[in-house]
Amino acid sequence: MEQFIINGDTPLFGEIKISGAKNAALPILTASLLADGPVTISNVPHLHDVTTIMTLLAKMGLEFTVDEQMNIEIDPNTINDFTAPYELVKTMRASILVLGPLLARHGEACVSLPGGCAIGSRPVDLHIEGMKALGADITVDNGYIHASVKGRLHGATINLEKITVTGTENLMMAATLAKGTTVLKNAAKEPEVIDLANFLNTLGADIRGAGTHTITIHGVDRLTGGQYRVLPDRIEAGTYLAAAALTRGRVKVKGIGPDLMDSILCKLADTGAHISSNCGWVELDMQGNRPKAVDINTAPYPAFPTDMQAQFVALNALAEGTSTVIENVFENRFMHIQEMQRMGANIKLEGNTAICTGVDSLNGAPVMATDLRASAGLVIASLMAKGETVVDRIYHIDRGYECIEEKLSMLGAKIQRINNKNIKS
Ligand code: EPU
Repeated sequence: MEQFIINGDTPLFGEIKISGAKNAALPILTASLLADGPVTISNVPHLHDVTTIMTLLAKMGLEFTVDEQMNIEIDPNTINDFTAPYELVKTMRASILVLGPLLARHGEACVSLPGGCAIGSRPVDLHIEGMKALGADITVDNGYIHASVKGRLHGATINLEKITVTGTENLMMAATLAKGTTVLKNAAKEPEVIDLANFLNTLGADIRGAGTHTITIHGVDRLTGGQYRVLPDRIEAGTYLAAAALTRGRVKVKGIGPDLMDSILCKLADTGAHISSNCGWVELDMQGNRPKAVDINTAPYPAFPTDMQAQFVALNALAEGTSTVIENVFENRFMHIQEMQRMGANIKLEGNTAICTGVDSLNGAPVMATDLRASAGLVIASLMAKGETVVDRIYHIDRGYECIEEKLSMLGAKIQRINNKNIKS
Protein backbone atom coordinates (compact mmCIF):
# COMPACT_ATOMS: atom_id res chain seq x y z
CA MET A 1 0.00 0.00 0.00
CA GLU A 2 1.58 3.28 -1.07
CA GLN A 3 1.72 6.33 1.19
CA PHE A 4 2.99 9.89 1.06
CA ILE A 5 5.35 11.11 3.74
CA ILE A 6 5.14 14.89 3.86
CA ASN A 7 7.28 17.18 5.98
CA GLY A 8 5.42 20.46 6.15
CA ASP A 9 5.85 24.10 7.04
CA THR A 10 7.45 24.98 3.70
CA PRO A 11 6.02 27.62 1.34
CA LEU A 12 5.63 26.59 -2.30
CA PHE A 13 7.50 28.61 -4.95
CA GLY A 14 7.88 28.04 -8.67
CA GLU A 15 6.12 27.04 -11.86
CA ILE A 16 4.41 23.88 -13.03
CA LYS A 17 2.61 22.76 -16.16
CA ILE A 18 -1.05 21.75 -15.83
CA SER A 19 -2.12 18.41 -17.34
CA GLY A 20 -5.14 17.64 -19.51
CA ALA A 21 -8.48 17.52 -17.67
CA LYS A 22 -9.46 14.11 -16.32
CA ASN A 23 -13.18 14.90 -16.50
CA ALA A 24 -12.90 15.90 -20.16
CA ALA A 25 -10.56 13.07 -21.21
CA LEU A 26 -12.86 10.34 -19.82
CA PRO A 27 -16.01 11.27 -21.82
CA ILE A 28 -13.94 12.08 -24.92
CA LEU A 29 -12.31 8.62 -24.82
CA THR A 30 -15.73 6.95 -24.55
CA ALA A 31 -17.11 9.22 -27.32
CA SER A 32 -14.58 7.67 -29.69
CA LEU A 33 -16.99 4.67 -29.72
CA LEU A 34 -19.31 6.80 -31.85
CA ALA A 35 -16.83 7.34 -34.68
CA ASP A 36 -16.50 5.15 -37.76
CA GLY A 37 -12.79 5.85 -38.22
CA PRO A 38 -9.67 6.18 -36.05
CA VAL A 39 -9.59 8.97 -33.49
CA THR A 40 -6.44 10.54 -32.01
CA ILE A 41 -6.71 12.27 -28.64
CA SER A 42 -3.83 14.34 -27.25
CA ASN A 43 -3.07 16.01 -23.91
CA VAL A 44 -4.58 12.99 -22.15
CA PRO A 45 -3.41 12.95 -18.51
CA HIS A 46 -1.54 9.86 -17.34
CA LEU A 47 -3.92 8.86 -14.55
CA HIS A 48 -5.32 5.73 -13.05
CA ASP A 49 -8.88 6.62 -14.20
CA VAL A 50 -7.65 6.97 -17.79
CA THR A 51 -6.05 3.51 -17.55
CA THR A 52 -9.37 2.14 -16.27
CA ILE A 53 -11.39 3.59 -19.17
CA MET A 54 -8.81 2.27 -21.65
CA THR A 55 -8.96 -1.16 -20.02
CA LEU A 56 -12.74 -1.06 -20.45
CA LEU A 57 -12.54 -0.02 -24.12
CA ALA A 58 -9.86 -2.67 -24.76
CA LYS A 59 -12.09 -5.28 -23.16
CA MET A 60 -14.76 -4.32 -25.69
CA GLY A 61 -12.25 -5.10 -28.44
CA LEU A 62 -11.01 -1.59 -29.31
CA GLU A 63 -7.38 -1.31 -30.41
CA PHE A 64 -5.07 1.52 -29.30
CA THR A 65 -1.68 2.96 -29.86
CA VAL A 66 -0.33 5.22 -27.14
CA ASP A 67 2.90 7.20 -27.55
CA GLU A 68 5.19 8.46 -24.79
CA GLN A 69 3.32 11.82 -24.71
CA MET A 70 -0.01 10.07 -24.07
CA ASN A 71 -1.36 10.77 -27.56
CA ILE A 72 -3.88 7.97 -27.89
CA GLU A 73 -5.04 6.65 -31.25
CA ILE A 74 -8.18 4.52 -31.01
CA ASP A 75 -9.74 2.32 -33.68
CA PRO A 76 -13.43 2.02 -32.74
CA ASN A 77 -14.18 -0.43 -35.57
CA THR A 78 -12.66 -3.45 -33.83
CA ILE A 79 -15.38 -3.53 -31.14
CA ASN A 80 -16.83 -7.00 -30.46
CA ASP A 81 -18.39 -6.72 -26.99
CA PHE A 82 -20.92 -4.19 -25.64
CA THR A 83 -20.55 -4.93 -21.92
CA ALA A 84 -19.12 -2.77 -19.12
CA PRO A 85 -18.58 -5.31 -16.32
CA TYR A 86 -19.04 -4.67 -12.60
CA GLU A 87 -15.33 -5.29 -11.88
CA LEU A 88 -14.42 -2.14 -13.83
CA VAL A 89 -17.48 0.04 -13.21
CA LYS A 90 -17.19 -0.42 -9.43
CA THR A 91 -13.66 1.06 -9.54
CA MET A 92 -14.71 4.03 -11.68
CA ARG A 93 -18.26 5.36 -12.00
CA ALA A 94 -17.43 7.31 -15.16
CA SER A 95 -17.59 3.92 -16.95
CA ILE A 96 -21.34 4.67 -17.24
CA LEU A 97 -20.28 7.03 -20.06
CA VAL A 98 -20.13 4.09 -22.50
CA LEU A 99 -23.92 3.66 -22.27
CA GLY A 100 -24.92 6.49 -24.64
CA PRO A 101 -22.27 5.82 -27.33
CA LEU A 102 -22.89 2.04 -27.39
CA LEU A 103 -26.65 2.48 -27.71
CA ALA A 104 -26.39 5.14 -30.39
CA ARG A 105 -23.82 3.38 -32.57
CA HIS A 106 -24.48 -0.32 -31.94
CA GLY A 107 -28.06 -0.39 -30.66
CA GLU A 108 -27.19 -2.29 -27.48
CA ALA A 109 -25.31 -1.94 -24.20
CA CYS A 110 -25.00 -3.89 -21.00
CA VAL A 111 -23.50 -1.67 -18.29
CA SER A 112 -23.14 -2.50 -14.61
CA LEU A 113 -24.92 -0.10 -12.26
CA PRO A 114 -22.19 1.88 -10.47
CA GLY A 115 -23.56 1.36 -6.92
CA GLY A 116 -22.65 3.53 -3.91
CA CYS A 117 -19.72 5.86 -3.61
CA ALA A 118 -17.61 7.37 -0.81
CA ILE A 119 -18.97 10.90 -1.47
CA GLY A 120 -22.69 10.19 -1.87
CA SER A 121 -25.31 7.81 -3.24
CA ARG A 122 -24.88 9.15 -6.81
CA PRO A 123 -27.76 7.46 -8.67
CA VAL A 124 -27.82 7.30 -12.50
CA ASP A 125 -31.62 7.49 -12.86
CA LEU A 126 -31.44 10.61 -15.06
CA HIS A 127 -29.09 8.84 -17.52
CA ILE A 128 -31.55 5.93 -17.74
CA GLU A 129 -34.71 8.07 -18.02
CA GLY A 130 -33.06 10.19 -20.71
CA MET A 131 -32.06 7.14 -22.78
CA LYS A 132 -35.65 5.88 -22.53
CA ALA A 133 -36.90 9.24 -23.82
CA LEU A 134 -34.56 8.79 -26.81
CA GLY A 135 -36.32 5.49 -27.57
CA ALA A 136 -34.14 2.92 -25.77
CA ASP A 137 -35.63 -0.18 -24.19
CA ILE A 138 -34.08 -0.48 -20.74
CA THR A 139 -34.32 -3.08 -18.02
CA VAL A 140 -32.27 -3.24 -14.86
CA ASP A 141 -31.51 -6.82 -13.84
CA ASN A 142 -28.96 -8.42 -11.53
CA GLY A 143 -27.16 -5.11 -11.08
CA TYR A 144 -26.85 -4.44 -14.81
CA ILE A 145 -28.50 -1.91 -17.13
CA HIS A 146 -29.57 -3.79 -20.29
CA ALA A 147 -30.31 -1.26 -23.04
CA SER A 148 -31.27 -1.78 -26.65
CA VAL A 149 -32.97 0.00 -29.51
CA LYS A 150 -34.41 -1.29 -32.77
CA GLY A 151 -32.94 0.85 -35.53
CA ARG A 152 -31.85 4.32 -34.41
CA LEU A 153 -32.56 6.32 -31.29
CA HIS A 154 -34.88 9.24 -31.95
CA GLY A 155 -34.60 12.88 -30.92
CA ALA A 156 -36.58 14.14 -27.90
CA THR A 157 -36.84 17.09 -25.56
CA ILE A 158 -35.43 16.08 -22.19
CA ASN A 159 -35.86 18.26 -19.16
CA LEU A 160 -33.19 17.16 -16.68
CA GLU A 161 -34.64 17.32 -13.19
CA LYS A 162 -31.20 17.99 -11.69
CA ILE A 163 -28.05 19.36 -13.27
CA THR A 164 -25.83 16.36 -13.95
CA VAL A 165 -22.44 16.52 -15.68
CA THR A 166 -22.01 12.92 -16.88
CA GLY A 167 -25.79 12.65 -17.42
CA THR A 168 -25.65 15.61 -19.83
CA GLU A 169 -22.58 14.09 -21.53
CA ASN A 170 -24.11 10.62 -21.89
CA LEU A 171 -27.33 11.97 -23.42
CA MET A 172 -25.46 14.41 -25.67
CA MET A 173 -23.35 11.54 -27.03
CA ALA A 174 -26.40 9.32 -27.55
CA ALA A 175 -28.28 12.10 -29.37
CA THR A 176 -25.49 12.79 -31.90
CA LEU A 177 -26.51 9.71 -33.95
CA ALA A 178 -30.25 9.82 -33.19
CA LYS A 179 -32.84 10.49 -35.88
CA GLY A 180 -34.08 14.06 -35.47
CA THR A 181 -33.40 16.79 -32.96
CA THR A 182 -32.79 16.45 -29.23
CA VAL A 183 -33.03 19.35 -26.81
CA LEU A 184 -31.42 18.90 -23.38
CA LYS A 185 -32.90 21.38 -20.91
CA ASN A 186 -31.28 22.22 -17.57
CA ALA A 187 -28.04 20.79 -19.01
CA ALA A 188 -24.71 21.07 -17.17
CA LYS A 189 -22.59 24.05 -18.33
CA GLU A 190 -19.18 22.72 -17.20
CA PRO A 191 -16.20 23.46 -19.51
CA GLU A 192 -15.71 19.67 -19.80
CA VAL A 193 -19.21 19.38 -21.36
CA ILE A 194 -18.22 22.08 -23.88
CA ASP A 195 -14.96 20.23 -24.61
CA LEU A 196 -16.87 17.01 -25.33
CA ALA A 197 -19.29 18.89 -27.64
CA ASN A 198 -16.34 20.49 -29.48
CA PHE A 199 -14.77 17.05 -29.93
CA LEU A 200 -18.01 15.56 -31.26
CA ASN A 201 -18.50 18.51 -33.63
CA THR A 202 -14.93 17.92 -34.92
CA LEU A 203 -16.09 14.42 -35.91
CA GLY A 204 -19.15 15.82 -37.75
CA ALA A 205 -21.79 16.08 -35.01
CA ASP A 206 -24.18 19.05 -34.95
CA ILE A 207 -24.34 20.23 -31.34
CA ARG A 208 -25.24 23.81 -30.41
CA GLY A 209 -25.53 25.59 -27.09
CA ALA A 210 -22.99 23.60 -25.05
CA GLY A 211 -21.98 25.84 -22.15
CA THR A 212 -25.59 27.03 -21.70
CA HIS A 213 -28.48 25.29 -19.96
CA THR A 214 -30.08 24.34 -23.32
CA ILE A 215 -28.13 22.09 -25.67
CA THR A 216 -29.60 21.29 -29.08
CA ILE A 217 -28.33 18.25 -30.95
CA HIS A 218 -29.35 17.63 -34.56
CA GLY A 219 -28.73 13.93 -35.14
CA VAL A 220 -26.40 13.00 -38.02
CA ASP A 221 -25.99 9.67 -39.86
CA ARG A 222 -22.35 9.10 -38.95
CA LEU A 223 -19.35 10.52 -37.14
CA THR A 224 -15.94 10.25 -38.79
CA GLY A 225 -12.52 9.79 -37.24
CA GLY A 226 -10.52 12.87 -36.27
CA GLN A 227 -8.03 14.48 -33.90
CA TYR A 228 -8.60 16.45 -30.71
CA ARG A 229 -6.63 18.02 -27.85
CA VAL A 230 -8.18 17.79 -24.37
CA LEU A 231 -8.57 21.07 -22.45
CA PRO A 232 -6.43 21.73 -19.32
CA ASP A 233 -7.53 20.61 -15.87
CA ARG A 234 -9.03 23.55 -13.95
CA ILE A 235 -9.32 21.49 -10.75
CA GLU A 236 -5.66 20.45 -10.84
CA ALA A 237 -4.68 24.11 -11.41
CA GLY A 238 -6.99 25.29 -8.61
CA THR A 239 -5.51 22.70 -6.24
CA TYR A 240 -1.92 23.94 -6.78
CA LEU A 241 -2.99 27.58 -6.44
CA ALA A 242 -4.86 26.79 -3.21
CA ALA A 243 -1.70 25.04 -1.96
CA ALA A 244 0.30 28.18 -2.78
CA ALA A 245 -2.18 30.35 -0.85
CA LEU A 246 -2.22 28.00 2.15
CA THR A 247 1.61 27.84 2.33
CA ARG A 248 1.94 31.64 1.82
CA GLY A 249 4.03 31.06 -1.33
CA ARG A 250 4.04 32.07 -5.00
CA VAL A 251 3.13 29.60 -7.75
CA LYS A 252 2.56 29.98 -11.50
CA VAL A 253 0.45 27.34 -13.24
CA LYS A 254 1.14 27.18 -16.97
CA GLY A 255 -0.93 25.83 -19.86
CA ILE A 256 -4.23 27.20 -18.52
CA GLY A 257 -5.83 30.65 -18.61
CA PRO A 258 -8.03 32.28 -15.95
CA ASP A 259 -11.31 32.01 -17.89
CA LEU A 260 -12.00 28.39 -16.89
CA MET A 261 -11.43 29.19 -13.22
CA ASP A 262 -13.37 32.36 -12.42
CA SER A 263 -15.14 31.23 -9.26
CA ILE A 264 -11.97 29.60 -7.87
CA LEU A 265 -9.79 32.65 -8.58
CA CYS A 266 -12.37 35.02 -7.03
CA LYS A 267 -12.26 33.03 -3.78
CA LEU A 268 -8.45 32.88 -3.86
CA ALA A 269 -8.37 36.66 -4.33
CA ASP A 270 -10.67 36.97 -1.28
CA THR A 271 -8.02 35.16 0.81
CA GLY A 272 -5.75 38.14 0.12
CA ALA A 273 -3.78 36.52 -2.72
CA HIS A 274 -2.38 38.64 -5.55
CA ILE A 275 -3.36 37.01 -8.81
CA SER A 276 -2.02 37.80 -12.25
CA SER A 277 -2.65 35.95 -15.49
CA ASN A 278 -2.72 35.89 -19.26
CA CYS A 279 -4.30 33.38 -21.62
CA GLY A 280 -1.56 30.79 -20.99
CA TRP A 281 -0.84 31.05 -17.26
CA VAL A 282 -2.11 32.09 -13.83
CA GLU A 283 0.15 33.16 -10.95
CA LEU A 284 -0.78 33.46 -7.30
CA ASP A 285 1.43 35.36 -4.84
CA MET A 286 0.62 35.47 -1.11
CA GLN A 287 3.62 37.75 -0.43
CA GLY A 288 4.24 35.74 2.72
CA ASN A 289 0.88 36.66 4.28
CA ARG A 290 -1.51 34.36 6.12
CA PRO A 291 -4.65 33.73 4.02
CA LYS A 292 -7.99 35.14 5.21
CA ALA A 293 -10.89 32.70 5.67
CA VAL A 294 -13.45 32.56 2.84
CA ASP A 295 -17.04 31.27 2.78
CA ILE A 296 -17.76 28.60 0.16
CA ASN A 297 -21.04 27.39 -1.32
CA THR A 298 -20.62 24.59 -3.85
CA ALA A 299 -22.92 24.33 -6.89
CA PRO A 300 -22.75 23.43 -10.58
CA TYR A 301 -20.62 25.56 -12.94
CA PRO A 302 -20.13 28.53 -13.10
CA ALA A 303 -20.50 28.53 -9.28
CA PHE A 304 -17.80 27.20 -6.96
CA PRO A 305 -16.98 23.53 -7.81
CA THR A 306 -17.53 20.72 -5.32
CA ASP A 307 -14.25 19.28 -6.63
CA MET A 308 -12.39 22.20 -4.93
CA GLN A 309 -14.27 22.06 -1.61
CA ALA A 310 -11.80 19.83 0.32
CA GLN A 311 -8.84 21.98 -0.75
CA PHE A 312 -10.59 25.14 0.51
CA VAL A 313 -11.48 23.44 3.81
CA ALA A 314 -7.72 22.84 4.19
CA LEU A 315 -7.05 26.50 3.37
CA ASN A 316 -9.70 27.71 5.81
CA ALA A 317 -8.34 25.40 8.52
CA LEU A 318 -5.20 27.56 8.62
CA ALA A 319 -6.67 30.89 7.60
CA GLU A 320 -7.33 33.97 9.71
CA GLY A 321 -10.96 34.01 10.85
CA THR A 322 -14.02 31.78 10.74
CA SER A 323 -15.74 30.57 7.59
CA THR A 324 -18.63 28.36 6.52
CA VAL A 325 -18.28 25.82 3.75
CA ILE A 326 -21.59 24.52 2.39
CA GLU A 327 -21.57 21.38 0.23
CA ASN A 328 -24.66 21.33 -1.98
CA VAL A 329 -23.76 18.72 -4.63
CA PHE A 330 -22.84 15.51 -2.78
CA GLU A 331 -24.29 14.53 0.59
CA ASN A 332 -21.23 12.86 2.08
CA ARG A 333 -18.29 14.84 0.77
CA PHE A 334 -16.76 15.85 4.12
CA MET A 335 -14.75 12.75 5.00
CA HIS A 336 -11.51 14.80 5.05
CA ILE A 337 -12.73 16.85 8.00
CA GLN A 338 -12.25 14.15 10.64
CA GLU A 339 -8.74 13.56 9.34
CA MET A 340 -7.96 17.30 9.44
CA GLN A 341 -9.31 17.44 13.01
CA ARG A 342 -6.69 14.82 13.87
CA MET A 343 -4.09 17.29 12.61
CA GLY A 344 -5.46 19.94 14.98
CA ALA A 345 -7.99 21.70 12.74
CA ASN A 346 -10.93 23.40 14.45
CA ILE A 347 -13.83 22.43 12.18
CA LYS A 348 -17.43 21.69 13.23
CA LEU A 349 -19.74 19.81 10.94
CA GLU A 350 -23.48 20.65 10.97
CA GLY A 351 -25.36 18.79 8.24
CA ASN A 352 -23.96 19.94 4.90
CA THR A 353 -22.11 22.88 6.49
CA ALA A 354 -18.57 22.91 7.87
CA ILE A 355 -17.72 25.76 10.21
CA CYS A 356 -13.97 26.31 10.14
CA THR A 357 -12.15 28.44 12.67
CA GLY A 358 -8.62 28.95 11.44
CA VAL A 359 -5.84 27.77 13.77
CA ASP A 360 -2.28 29.14 13.85
CA SER A 361 -0.76 25.80 12.92
CA LEU A 362 -1.60 22.18 12.15
CA ASN A 363 0.47 19.23 13.35
CA GLY A 364 1.57 16.28 11.27
CA ALA A 365 -0.32 13.02 11.91
CA PRO A 366 -1.09 9.76 10.17
CA VAL A 367 -4.18 10.39 8.02
CA MET A 368 -6.21 8.39 5.55
CA ALA A 369 -7.41 9.49 2.14
CA THR A 370 -11.04 8.52 1.42
CA ASP A 371 -11.63 9.86 -2.09
CA LEU A 372 -9.80 11.81 -4.75
CA ARG A 373 -10.43 15.40 -3.68
CA ALA A 374 -10.38 14.58 0.05
CA SER A 375 -6.85 13.26 -0.56
CA ALA A 376 -5.89 16.50 -2.29
CA GLY A 377 -7.20 18.46 0.71
CA LEU A 378 -5.17 16.33 3.12
CA VAL A 379 -2.00 16.63 1.05
CA ILE A 380 -2.17 20.41 0.86
CA ALA A 381 -3.01 20.68 4.59
CA SER A 382 0.10 18.54 5.30
CA LEU A 383 2.29 20.94 3.32
CA MET A 384 1.82 23.56 6.03
CA ALA A 385 1.61 21.22 9.06
CA LYS A 386 4.44 21.08 11.56
CA GLY A 387 6.38 17.83 11.43
CA GLU A 388 5.62 14.70 9.46
CA THR A 389 2.25 13.64 7.99
CA VAL A 390 1.76 10.18 6.56
CA VAL A 391 -1.10 10.10 4.04
CA ASP A 392 -2.41 6.57 3.54
CA ARG A 393 -4.45 5.15 0.61
CA ILE A 394 -2.99 7.56 -1.91
CA TYR A 395 -4.27 5.39 -4.75
CA HIS A 396 -7.23 7.79 -4.61
CA ILE A 397 -5.00 10.73 -5.55
CA ASP A 398 -3.43 8.82 -8.45
CA ARG A 399 -6.90 8.67 -10.04
CA GLY A 400 -6.87 12.40 -10.70
CA TYR A 401 -3.49 14.12 -10.20
CA GLU A 402 -0.73 13.39 -12.70
CA CYS A 403 2.76 13.16 -11.10
CA ILE A 404 1.60 15.02 -7.99
CA GLU A 405 4.71 14.35 -5.93
CA GLU A 406 7.01 15.38 -8.79
CA LYS A 407 5.06 18.62 -9.31
CA LEU A 408 4.94 19.44 -5.58
CA SER A 409 8.66 18.63 -5.22
CA MET A 410 9.42 21.04 -8.07
CA LEU A 411 7.66 23.70 -6.00
CA GLY A 412 9.83 22.91 -2.97
CA ALA A 413 7.56 20.57 -1.02
CA LYS A 414 9.13 17.77 0.99
CA ILE A 415 7.04 14.85 -0.17
CA GLN A 416 8.01 11.25 -0.71
CA ARG A 417 6.08 8.21 -1.93
CA ILE A 418 6.78 5.02 -0.05
CA ASN A 419 5.50 1.53 -0.51
CA ASN A 420 4.68 0.15 2.89
CA LYS A 421 4.05 -3.53 2.28
CA ASN A 422 3.01 -4.12 5.88
CA ILE A 423 -0.10 -1.95 5.60
CA LYS A 424 -3.30 -3.61 4.49
CA SER A 425 -6.57 -1.87 3.76
N1 EPU B 1 -27.65 12.86 -9.78
C1 EPU B 1 -28.86 12.21 -9.67
N2 EPU B 1 -29.24 11.37 -10.68
C2 EPU B 1 -28.47 11.17 -11.78
C3 EPU B 1 -27.23 11.83 -11.89
C4 EPU B 1 -26.85 12.68 -10.87
O1 EPU B 1 -29.58 12.38 -8.69
O2 EPU B 1 -28.87 10.37 -12.66
C5 EPU B 1 -27.22 13.77 -8.69
C6 EPU B 1 -25.94 13.28 -7.97
O3 EPU B 1 -26.21 12.33 -6.98
C7 EPU B 1 -25.38 14.59 -7.42
C8 EPU B 1 -25.78 15.62 -8.50
O4 EPU B 1 -26.82 15.01 -9.25
O5 EPU B 1 -26.03 14.93 -6.23
C9 EPU B 1 -24.66 16.01 -9.45
O6 EPU B 1 -23.97 14.85 -9.90
P1 EPU B 1 -23.34 14.76 -11.35
O7 EPU B 1 -24.11 13.76 -12.13
O8 EPU B 1 -23.17 16.12 -11.94
O9 EPU B 1 -21.91 14.15 -11.03
P2 EPU B 1 -21.12 13.19 -11.97
O10 EPU B 1 -21.43 13.50 -13.37
O11 EPU B 1 -21.28 11.79 -11.50
C10 EPU B 1 -19.03 14.70 -12.36
C11 EPU B 1 -17.56 14.60 -12.13
C12 EPU B 1 -17.29 14.67 -10.63
C13 EPU B 1 -17.83 16.01 -10.11
C14 EPU B 1 -19.32 16.14 -10.44
C15 EPU B 1 -19.90 17.48 -10.06
C16 EPU B 1 -16.80 13.27 -13.99
C17 EPU B 1 -16.25 11.99 -14.49
N3 EPU B 1 -17.07 13.34 -12.68
O12 EPU B 1 -19.62 13.61 -11.68
O13 EPU B 1 -15.88 14.64 -10.46
O14 EPU B 1 -17.65 16.08 -8.72
O15 EPU B 1 -19.51 15.95 -11.85
O16 EPU B 1 -19.23 18.50 -10.67
O17 EPU B 1 -16.97 14.20 -14.75
C18 EPU B 1 -13.89 14.28 -9.26
O18 EPU B 1 -13.26 14.59 -10.29
O19 EPU B 1 -13.34 14.14 -8.15
C19 EPU B 1 -15.33 14.06 -9.34
C20 EPU B 1 -16.00 13.41 -8.40
